[in-house]
Amino acid sequence: MATKTEDLTELSNIISTSVKNYLSHVPTPPTLRPAPPVPVTDEVAIQARKQLLVACRRVVSLVGGPMETVMGMAMGFHDTTAVRLAYDMKIAQNVPLDGSPIALAELAAKSGVPEETIVRVMRALTLNDVFVETAPGYFAHTGGSTLIGTPQMEALVGHYVDETFTSAPHVSDVLRENNFAVPEDGRKTAFSRAFNVNKNFFEYIFVDNKPMGTRFNQAMKATIARGSFNLVAVYEPLLSAPKGTTLVDVGGGIGHVAIAAAQKVPKLKCVVQEIGMVASEGLDGLPQELKDRVEFQENDFFEGQPIGGPGVYYHLRHILHDHPDPACKKILSHIANAMDSSSRILIDECILDKSMGPDYDRAAVKMDFQMLVMCNAKERTEAQWAELIKGADERLVVERLWRAKGNSTGIIEVGLA
Ligand SMILES: C[S@@+](CC[C@H](N)C(=O)[O-])C[C@H]1O[C@@H](n2cnc3c(N)ncnc32)[C@H](O)[C@@H]1O
Repeated sequence: MATKTEDLTELSNIISTSVKNYLSHVPTPPTLRPAPPVPVTDEVAIQARKQLLVACRRVVSLVGGPMETVMGMAMGFHDTTAVRLAYDMKIAQNVPLDGSPIALAELAAKSGVPEETIVRVMRALTLNDVFVETAPGYFAHTGGSTLIGTPQMEALVGHYVDETFTSAPHVSDVLRENNFAVPEDGRKTAFSRAFNVNKNFFEYIFVDNKPMGTRFNQAMKATIARGSFNLVAVYEPLLSAPKGTTLVDVGGGIGHVAIAAAQKVPKLKCVVQEIGMVASEGLDGLPQELKDRVEFQENDFFEGQPIGGPGVYYHLRHILHDHPDPACKKILSHIANAMDSSSRILIDECILDKSMGPDYDRAAVKMDFQMLVMCNAKERTEAQWAELIKGADERLVVERLWRAKGNSTGIIEVGLA
């Protein structure tokens, strides 16, 4: 295993074997050129990819040495500084999307910023293969830079480089004042301190800062296309659910998951429950052909669960990771009170590994910090999920775990005893 060795020769052998396995199990070799991301679904390719990334990172740690490793982390936020500047200057939108290069002077003129500033940003981004300098002073898109400019990914990047990047520096103060325990109050977060409000993130963006709310809704839509959030998993429990099942997507955003599920599962009826502003943006974008199968309902999940009775599957994707335990228990107990023995809760979230180290799911670690900064919340291990579910209502029973391939996302299927 790449994580166990410091031997460069052994690592190079692992890399060479993994490259062969990878290339023989993916439809096309990877490229830096702008191209739609190709999801890796083959089991051998998934394993080879994991081995490759871990082995390559180990080589970088060994050859780079401890100073470079630690300084890389301590100053890692300047990667975000560079992406933030690119986002604000709209550089990605001003570079030709067909992959042809643009001269620095033209890019600067189109973006309305001095060449000298763009050069500094490009120097930082091209280090990570985000944009490429094709000849001195000429820049073209790579796959990574293209993503920054595509509508929903732009919103997702904006969410991270704007409200999260602004909030993160406050996290130590929030924790220090509580002896470094995370407060169980979603209104006393690094986010609420940075934005000087006594509200949780959602209360702020859907009331006080609606443009930020609209951007967040679009950003969530982008997460269904991202490799680390394996939407495919949600279809599996739904496809094996009894006929006549209704999907209630609790906090289902603008309906992207419900729409995808309705398109995939014939005759499935879906109700997306949301805060008023989100429900109305969702209704505006609902495809005509799904209007008889997908509806939006305004509902505050802390206040109650209005839909009950037989055959209801309650889907909560990326909801409970947004809230400290007491708030999660409230949401779950309202649902438990509406359930009968034929209903299920599908908790669609990360299921963190107990062990740690260089082969850990990096996206899950970042998301755990995201939740800490914005919500005083967290990603959870299987044991933490079990404790939370039982703590919400003694009658709730974990019936099955559906795990995505190649990352730590999954679905916890919960019934009522
Ligand atoms: C992280 S997003 C997840 C959205 C969607 N489930 C997905 O997976 O993309 C959390 C969602 O919870 C919704 N939400 C937050 N507080 C809520 C509340 N009190 N009642 C209902 N929905 C709420 C937000 O509007 C947001 O759409």
